[in-house]
Amino acid sequence: MGAAFENPDAPFGFEHGPFVTGAFAPLFDEEVHESLPVDGEIPADLNGVYLRNGPNPRFEPNGIYHPFDGDGMVHAAHFDRGRVVVRNKWVRTAAWQEEDQSGKAEYWGVRETLKGRADRPIKDNANTDIIGYGGYALATWYLAGTPYLLDPITLETVRAADNFVQKPGFGVSAHPKVDEFSGELMFFDYFHEHPHMTYGVANAQGELVHHVPIELRGNRLPHDMAITENYSILHDLPVFHDEAAYAAGRHKILFDSKIPTRFGVIPRHGAADTIRWFDFTPCFLYHVVNAWEEGDEVVMVACRFMPQRKPDGSIDEQRTAHVIGHLGMDARLWRYRMNLKTGACKEECLDADYNIEFPGYNSALTGRYTQWGYLVDHDPDTLRWTGLNKYNTDTGERVGEWTDGHDCCWYSEPWFAPADNARSEDHGYVVAFVWNDSTAKQELQIFDAQNMSPGPIARVKMPHRIPPGFHACWMKPEQIATK
Ligand SMILES: [Fe+2]
Repeated sequence: MGAAFENPDAPFGFEHGPFVTGAFAPLFDEEVHESLPVDGEIPADLNGVYLRNGPNPRFEPNGIYHPFDGDGMVHAAHFDRGRVVVRNKWVRTAAWQEEDQSGKAEYWGVRETLKGRADRPIKDNANTDIIGYGGYALATWYLAGTPYLLDPITLETVRAADNFVQKPGFGVSAHPKVDEFSGELMFFDYFHEHPHMTYGVANAQGELVHHVPIELRGNRLPHDMAITENYSILHDLPVFHDEAAYAAGRHKILFDSKIPTRFGVIPRHGAADTIRWFDFTPCFLYHVVNAWEEGDEVVMVACRFMPQRKPDGSIDEQRTAHVIGHLGMDARLWRYRMNLKTGACKEECLDADYNIEFPGYNSALTGRYTQWGYLVDHDPDTLRWTGLNKYNTDTGERVGEWTDGHDCCWYSEPWFAPADNARSEDHGYVVAFVWNDSTAKQELQIFDAQNMSPGPIARVKMPHRIPPGFHACWMKPEQIATK
């Protein structure tokens, strides 16, 4: 890593591809910053912690680097009565500790899996999602591995939550959901072999209380799930590994527009055969905003990845798969309705105009009706989020928006932070990190969630860039375990 500090824009040189240079260049220090300068005022009724997970490779990668490969690093902004402390720390996964001992990258990534040793598949790196659970922050990985429990304030890794990972099929994918009313964690695992998916529930104490196989029609690449008060919604999307390539150790993704997208609705603690599948138009789908029940219907609002089209209007399966595989994004806000009594279902586009993704919302209401979603504008070509939006997900109306510059900004996934004694769903703040290429400045920005369009009410000036990452969450003080 000799060259690491000679060129901070390309600490490992340029031979590992674009996702480890420029704004993506990783950090090498774990820091704590107090008393940071602020333009504006941090509200005194903003209390809790904003956590954002993302890849941050510690050692020079083997071969071409992909953002899914990097070691998970969490950045946190802890708000306490008008003050904020910002921290960053790697998740101490088993693989991180292994490489800590050897002092070099021991794994090859998703782009060059074949070069890795058979006993060292892709690094299980906890770099994708983060959610408050059982008093801790739970960091998870998109390929379904071992989740890790972190202290949400100090970011110390407490332990692997490996009581969920007893054998194959007992991993935990990114995007488990916590019902903040019961404290339960609902999660899924997906894998190449039959039945291709499992679904589980852990109680608020971290004990596995329910686990069932979910039979999919082949290997699939689901990414998210949803919950309602009484049900979980599992995703069966027509996106999967090419079997021949997979057998040869490569990851080639296929999209089949002849296979419907299916969502399976299963009672929270239901047996495997109680799942009910609903067919929709074929698509990929990264992220759900939220879901809830309305009478006999289950409603799910999500960001639907739009199948790419040929000039004649037909679906271009190859291009769709290519864009998914290369982290391009072309998603629209979408609503799905599934009637558990009649079996009827319906889908509708809520806003055809804007490419939006990485949704945040008031997560105290996960699985219950919410009206408001906070989503990023997505650069269609790369993993860059250029601005923030507030949506009325009933009407699809964009009621708030802000960017410091679509051409130069890198926003993190925004999350809603309720005000103390909040009086309504959107009474509170929206929090996000933003790096600005044109000013070469990093800020932590705070918005009034009920009035986003005037811009941030506070800008915390940060001493270092935060590389782009994946998911974020908000934890209220009462969600944080006291020792
Ligand atoms: Fe995700």
